[in-house]
Amino acid sequence: MSNSDETGLEARLEEQDAFEPPESFVEQANVSDSSIYEAFDENWPQCWEQAADLLDWSEEYEETLDDSNPPFYEWFTGGSLNASHNCLDRHLEERGDEAAIEWVGEPPEEDNLTYTYEDLHAEVNEFAAALRDIGVEEDDVVTMYMPMIPELPIAMLACARIGAPHSVVFAGFSADALATRMNAADSHFLVTCDGYYRRGDALDHLEKANEGLDGVEHETETVVVDRLGANDDGFGHGLSDSQRDYDELVAEHAGATVDPVERDAEDMLFLMYTSGTTGEPKGVKHTTGGYLSWVSWTSQAVLDVKPDDTYFCPADIGWITGHSYIVYGPLALGTTTMMYEGTPDYPERDRMWEIVEEYEANQFYTAPTAIRAFMKWGAEHLEDHDLSSLRLLGTVGEPINPKAWKWYYKHIGDENCPIVDTWWQTETGGMMVTGLPGVSTMKPGSAGRPLPGVDANVVDPSGEQVEPGRAGYLTIDKPWPGMLRTLYRNDERFIDEYWAEYSDTDSDDPEDWVYFPEDGAKIDDDGYITVLGRVDDVLNVSGHRLGTMEIESAIVGVEGVAEAAVVGGDHDIKGEAVYAYVITEDGHDGDEDLRDQIVAGVEDAIGPIARPESIVFTPELPKTRSGKIMRRLLEDVANDDELGDTSTLRNPDVVEDIRANVQN
Ligand code: PRX
Repeated sequence: MSNSDETGLEARLEEQDAFEPPESFVEQANVSDSSIYEAFDENWPQCWEQAADLLDWSEEYEETLDDSNPPFYEWFTGGSLNASHNCLDRHLEERGDEAAIEWVGEPPEEDNLTYTYEDLHAEVNEFAAALRDIGVEEDDVVTMYMPMIPELPIAMLACARIGAPHSVVFAGFSADALATRMNAADSHFLVTCDGYYRRGDALDHLEKANEGLDGVEHETETVVVDRLGANDDGFGHGLSDSQRDYDELVAEHAGATVDPVERDAEDMLFLMYTSGTTGEPKGVKHTTGGYLSWVSWTSQAVLDVKPDDTYFCPADIGWITGHSYIVYGPLALGTTTMMYEGTPDYPERDRMWEIVEEYEANQFYTAPTAIRAFMKWGAEHLEDHDLSSLRLLGTVGEPINPKAWKWYYKHIGDENCPIVDTWWQTETGGMMVTGLPGVSTMKPGSAGRPLPGVDANVVDPSGEQVEPGRAGYLTIDKPWPGMLRTLYRNDERFIDEYWAEYSDTDSDDPEDWVYFPEDGAKIDDDGYITVLGRVDDVLNVSGHRLGTMEIESAIVGVEGVAEAAVVGGDHDIKGEAVYAYVITEDGHDGDEDLRDQIVAGVEDAIGPIARPESIVFTPELPKTRSGKIMRRLLEDVANDDELGDTSTLRNPDVVEDIRANVQN
């Protein structure tokens, strides 16, 4: 192909704003009939029986949806099942020898492991027996503070087996964050590990876990996985009396089998803490029947997962994406799911492609922040790799700009793989707004239509639908099986946070209840939704959700800081970055020293992911006459945009003063 041809193609791709799914994909797609949208509308909510039918129920459910007490909806009521049975036991006969998990350790080659369904089933049983032995009973919350090692999904499935909900805390979170979550969930059990590898270095994780345990208000039992010891990299902490070694425990229960506990469809499968607008993380509660149906159905319909696939999502199981689309969805469908311990650029920037090639991955599902990084590193890192095994690409966690979408489409998918841009949240359990890859025309930058049976709309502040092209607020007007059931032990906050905005909270008619995800969006003439980002004080840094209030309270906790405001500023790779505006206490200087202490304070309270990109010291913050900080103006400063309306400010000059401080 001549250069000019190539340039011509490049230009065409750049201008193209709609893409049809490749014929070769459509022919084999799990869903390829567009009539599904109409069929689901006509048969709502019974359409969701199709999702429940993907599972093995020990007791058939009596009712699809019980909406008698909105917003406390119940799905598949009267039914019972076990998630571990659905992800393991039922596949044994046909797929026992097939890989369930392909684990790729960070040190290349050295540590890779394959768990067949038989292997995984055996170890989950042994660990389930061990958990019981150390005192875990049905409904006890077991916390996991682990990086991407196989024992994490094993522990999750072992909990599911004995009916103990898990609460996984992202390993990159700080000791304080762990303690807060264990206290909030009144969790008496922790599964953690000695350490893990990052960019060639062994990290000491147990020290952080121990520090967190110091902040837990009640007695705890801990199980510690030995990830590094085998490589003689252990940090030699030793274990206390209330801590047990994972390998020893499992060995003590070698060959044990534990009958999966029958759980009611509405029984809690897990809790996941996520950031909200206050400093207190929210304990999102997911159930067994609705959640597992939802992630199974969406894995099948959207990710096109089939049992013989090797499916690769390099997210972290510490976030909802990993729960739903590394562990539960893929395993419920009996496929091979991959786990990768390390980062995409270690040892080289082609690490992902090396893995895709070696394992012949069929799907690749990642965050736009990663795609923007791949794009920046350059297509040369793909040159030596055969990615022709890929059939489908996906994105999750934040909006993707059309340029990054097209790069992904061309360079990773070879213009031969549909891309699903999946909008959803920790709270929704699984995907909500996204294309069906065997059906939908793709429009780069837009997540697509709501999934069949999902009633998502874009409305103005009074709840009226906005005209196509105008910005508004995303709402979800009908319940769905994967929805959160409440915030753990806080029904009131559940209603306030998600429903109060657009619902008649006195009504018991489900028509009067509308879920508000706190995202801005617009919709086009074809009903395609483009999600614009959060409209509350929640940031999305590299696809990770962080509350501005959490970061602010960490900063204010640093000696010498009087007041702080945190906003998100645009960032080429991360999407958003943390910008902090700080007023010092009298007698303290806004100097490098204080800057370092602020960074350390944020890392201690939350973790390195929340580290501020920029810290600006200022004598004042822009405030309304009622004393509310005008974050919007600080965002303008962070992005170096023209200032919005300052007329409601008590101190209108302050914004220009801050801008001058930034430039100095
Ligand atoms: O703002 C939306 C953004 O991520 C938020 C949810 O964050 P979290 O609960 O951490 O879950 C992330 C993984 C599902 C949403 O409120 N978001 C998620 N997916 C998209 C997105 N924004 C635009 N496009 C998406 N595809």
